Amino acid sequence: MPEPELIHILAFESSCDDTSVALLRAHCEDETPQLVAWSVQSQNEVHEKFGGVVPELASRAHLQNLLPCLQKVLKEGGVPLSKIDAFAATSQPGLIGCLLVGHSAAKTLSMLFSKPFLSCHHIQGHVLSVFLEHQPALPFLAAIVSGGHTSLYRVDSLDDVQPLGQTRDDALGEAYDKGAKMLGLSFPGGPELELLAQSGEPSYPFGKVKMPGLDFSFSGMKSELARLVKREGESLRRADAAASYQTALLDHLISRIEEALRLESMRTLVVVGGVARNQELRRRLDCLVSETGIIDRWIAPSPAFCTDNAAMIGVHAFRLFKRGEISDLQADVGATSRPARKSLTRSSV
Ligand code: KG4
Ligand code: ZN
Repeated sequence: MPEPELIHILAFESSCDDTSVALLRAHCEDETPQLVAWSVQSQNEVHEKFGGVVPELASRAHLQNLLPCLQKVLKEGGVPLSKIDAFAATSQPGLIGCLLVGHSAAKTLSMLFSKPFLSCHHIQGHVLSVFLEHQPALPFLAAIVSGGHTSLYRVDSLDDVQPLGQTRDDALGEAYDKGAKMLGLSFPGGPELELLAQSGEPSYPFGKVKMPGLDFSFSGMKSELARLVKREGESLRRADAAASYQTALLDHLISRIEEALRLESMRTLVVVGGVARNQELRRRLDCLVSETGIIDRWIAPSPAFCTDNAAMIGVHAFRLFKRGEISDLQADVGATSRPARKSLTRSSV
């Protein structure tokens, strides 16, 4: 019997402020690929003094970081470029100048080595990131909670991902970042706000979102926090404000998740994206298993795969490859369906 063919995929992710390259391999009949090597270079140092991602600086930083990331992955993976079977890159959504860096690199390599080019969707990548380490029972509800996106999906198979709801204004991570900025914390504010909230009590009242359905809206809470900060001035109990704001954000998220689970009769929840690193969110999700009993289990990727990474793009790319959905070398990149996240215009509250 001949050995089953081994496919190698090289994936690039550069949609916002993380430059990442990953090498994955799989046999054609596999459902998901195995991660061989990957690398990520964050740009926090570039953007923190501006309190948000500066698109122009982000694109330039991608140009600087991409080749070192690629060299590291090729060295660790021990696979030469000539042995790669397909080159993949995030094509949307994201900051155009940033997307172009990874996209152009993957296209150039495809052309050079006459191998397929796979143009990938960032959000699909986030949804599929859970398959890097887990095999969740299907169907499941996927909640994407990142800096640019907050949405719910029904996942019936690796190739069947249906949207159920999304944010109408800020993404959850964006709401964390903007709230952190109001509280004088540094960028990216999510982890900082979480830390500050740990020493506070949710003693400031925040209103509940009244909007029906499975869409989210976080901008009202952001305005409430802005009013609170202004009203209290010097006497603001910052840790309590952080805890109250976080509680309001998570109450809204969890209530929508519960509603979707009920409506779709699903008992497995997958949470992906940068905010899935948040410990308070994780504690609240544990309660969905142990107290309300609405789910049997919830799963999140390890912290490194919660934030933007090329490994998740590689999983999505492998599915495209299996389905024969090869992209044209003329394929374009696409901005977000909503304005780019954390850009200076959006982060100025
Ligand atoms: O998924 P990601 O890397 O980027 C996008 O695709 O947008 O997520 C980054 C976001 C940032 O907004 C960051 O503040 C937030 O995830 N984040 C957190 C935590 N860690 C990262 N938010 C709250 N708590 C955290 N521990
Ligand atoms: Zn992302």
